[in-house]
Amino acid sequence: MIEVRNLTKYYGNFAAVNDVSFDAHSGEIVGLLGPNGAGKTSTMRMLTGFMPPSGGYAKVAGYDTFKESIEVRRRVGYLPENVPVYPDMTVRDYVMFWAKLRRVAKPKQQVDAALERVQLTDRRNTLVRNLSKGLKQRLGLAQALVHNPEVIILDEPTIGIDPQQVIEVRNTVKELGQDHTVLFSTHILAEAEQVCDRILIINNGHIVASGEPAALRQQIQPGVQLYILLGKHTPGKVQQLFKAIEGVKHIEQQGDGYVLDVEPGHDVRADIATQIVEAGYALLEMRPLAMTLEDIFLNIISDKDYA
Ligand SMILES: Nc1ncnc2c1ncn2[C@@H]1O[C@H](COP(=O)(O)OP(=O)(O)OP(=O)(O)O)[C@@H](O)[C@H]1O
Ligand SMILES: [Mg+2]
Repeated sequence: MIEVRNLTKYYGNFAAVNDVSFDAHSGEIVGLLGPNGAGKTSTMRMLTGFMPPSGGYAKVAGYDTFKESIEVRRRVGYLPENVPVYPDMTVRDYVMFWAKLRRVAKPKQQVDAALERVQLTDRRNTLVRNLSKGLKQRLGLAQALVHNPEVIILDEPTIGIDPQQVIEVRNTVKELGQDHTVLFSTHILAEAEQVCDRILIINNGHIVASGEPAALRQQIQPGVQLYILLGKHTPGKVQQLFKAIEGVKHIEQQGDGYVLDVEPGHDVRADIATQIVEAGYALLEMRPLAMTLEDIFLNIISDKDYA
């Protein structure tokens, strides 16, 4: 449904998007995960026909996003980073405005369906200016959906909204993924993992890793970190004990706790629990530390010479 090949965007002589290639199939939610300035928005703007590529191409349903942008816009719903809103319109009028602009065949029906889908039906007569940020974001989603596009492109739809709204927007995106191709950008790893069928990690304009969430984590995580908190104990003895366990690479003491770096493929938890208890200490806590996006980027970037 989406085909991107060697897509490149230069601003002056700066390559914001550099030789990016990927596909997104029907009924798939693909996440574009990357830090600020990675090139997410630039990629999306080329995909939606708003900006010509400097090199390569992107196609939606077989149509070139720049050369055949009318065909593409008909098939794509786009929620930009900053949703343009008209404060003096009602919610319903705003979505109707977009429906008419896009020459939707049965505008009334489609507007109602879009409002229903993003749960704004009971706010249809509210003025846009009186919507909370989260509700404005949902209004943006309704705008992106009203012409019933096959492809939906959402640029960081959960940024700046409260946790409850974040959950609702994520759920709506997942639902949309059942009958649309969705390209979704975020800088939050956990969000990409939760929402997407496949993740593309983008950094400095390059796709630096991609895959299904679980596989990707395996691929990029150099091992696991465990946090262990003990009751009263003798640090020297405990360090000895950890060192002797196969798979433990590195030990760092943090107060009464320890952070262990464990090699991939080793599950040392049972061993640690047994040995701590046998040594007569209380094991108060043992949990894996989630890797942050930053850790993952640092890993990827140090692995490959993309920086
Ligand atoms: N119109 C422009 N002119 C010049 N440089 C630009 C322009 N738009 C973006 N850039 C630069 O291109 C790079 C990629 O920007 P882009 O907005 O695509 O990144 P992003 O991944 O969406 O970032 P963010 O998470 O901050 O939204 C950045 O370094 C940005 O400063
Ligand atoms: Mg952006």
